[in-house]
Amino acid sequence: MSSEAGDAAAYAARAYPAWVRAQKAYGLSDQEGQVKLNQNESPFDLPLELKREILEQVLAEPWNRYPALRDAELHAEVAAHFGVRAEQLLIGPGSNSLLGALAQCVAQPDAVVVAARPSFGLYGSATRASGSRLLEVPLGPDLRLDVAGMISAARENRAALVFAANPNNPTGTAVPTAALLELVAEAPGLVLLDEAYLEFSGLPSALGALDRHPNLIVLRTFSKAFGLAGVRCGCLMGHPEVLAPIDRLRAPFAMGPFVRHCIRAILRQPDLLRRTVEHIIQERERVLARMSCIPGVVPRPSMANFVLFEVLEHEKVYRRLHRRGITVRDVSSYDELKSSLRVTIGTPEENEAFLNALAEAVK
Ligand SMILES: Cc1ncc(COP(=O)(O)O)c(C=O)c1O
Repeated sequence: MSSEAGDAAAYAARAYPAWVRAQKAYGLSDQEGQVKLNQNESPFDLPLELKREILEQVLAEPWNRYPALRDAELHAEVAAHFGVRAEQLLIGPGSNSLLGALAQCVAQPDAVVVAARPSFGLYGSATRASGSRLLEVPLGPDLRLDVAGMISAARENRAALVFAANPNNPTGTAVPTAALLELVAEAPGLVLLDEAYLEFSGLPSALGALDRHPNLIVLRTFSKAFGLAGVRCGCLMGHPEVLAPIDRLRAPFAMGPFVRHCIRAILRQPDLLRRTVEHIIQERERVLARMSCIPGVVPRPSMANFVLFEVLEHEKVYRRLHRRGITVRDVSSYDELKSSLRVTIGTPEENEAFLNALAEAVK
């Protein structure tokens, strides 16, 4: 280590408490190939014409000015899309950032946050980064959320917050919305229902129950069905009193004119969203059926835009897929998913390339 690096490390050690220094950076170990099926993104970019229109609108904005603290038009349009009132909505640069702010809001040394395992990794990292204690409830034997187990864990530990993804990532499994509303009714604290993949499930949203449950927060994102992962926009919806502290804690002015115009443009294209979702669901079912016919591959039915599957030698299969330019996600670090990989549904051509490569890779 150079002497400056040593000095910097010493300053960091004095300035940052041990638990902060122990945090792991978010990282992807996947080595990317041409066919990128590892991050549950939409395979469809916006039409070029629409991108040009958005850019024209962004060019017409003053870039030297801070954006509005709360963009009333954007809130009105996003709220109308989700069928909530504008005051029940918080919009942020990716739902990740809002998850982090929520975890900070409930943080205390003895605060308990409950989440399923395996589930979306950010629940754990946001909780640990906030200093609260994470309590993980294993999924049921069918890899679906163990709602009864989560209720008991939340009640017995007076959990300040419960994270529940439906459909769940990385399993693609889902439980009925009514079961989750029972969790909301029984939990002593806040419950964040993460509906990042809801559009692909055909399930009703829990948003309709917001007025009945003041402790319910629903997460939605523009990164998946809307195909805007690169734009970074997501939202939390809940009671204004519950959202206000999250809003106060996060950094102001986080979203500039680019995000605003992208979101308003996509909301004016409901047909594009409907067609994309229909197409991905159709492809998912086709891919699942084909995977089931490959000896040595056990895919799990999915309600999301990805499929979890088991193979005998997952490391070898991962490497062989990568050699053919196909990137999937290795999720085998979870004990419960020891020999599993996860593949995002891509374009029909990408899915074909994946299916052919998989058939070869498991031989
Ligand atoms: C379950 C779940 N929730 C939330 C997100 C975060 O999405 P974003 O930060 O892009 O809005 C993801 C991303 O993969 C996810 O899988």
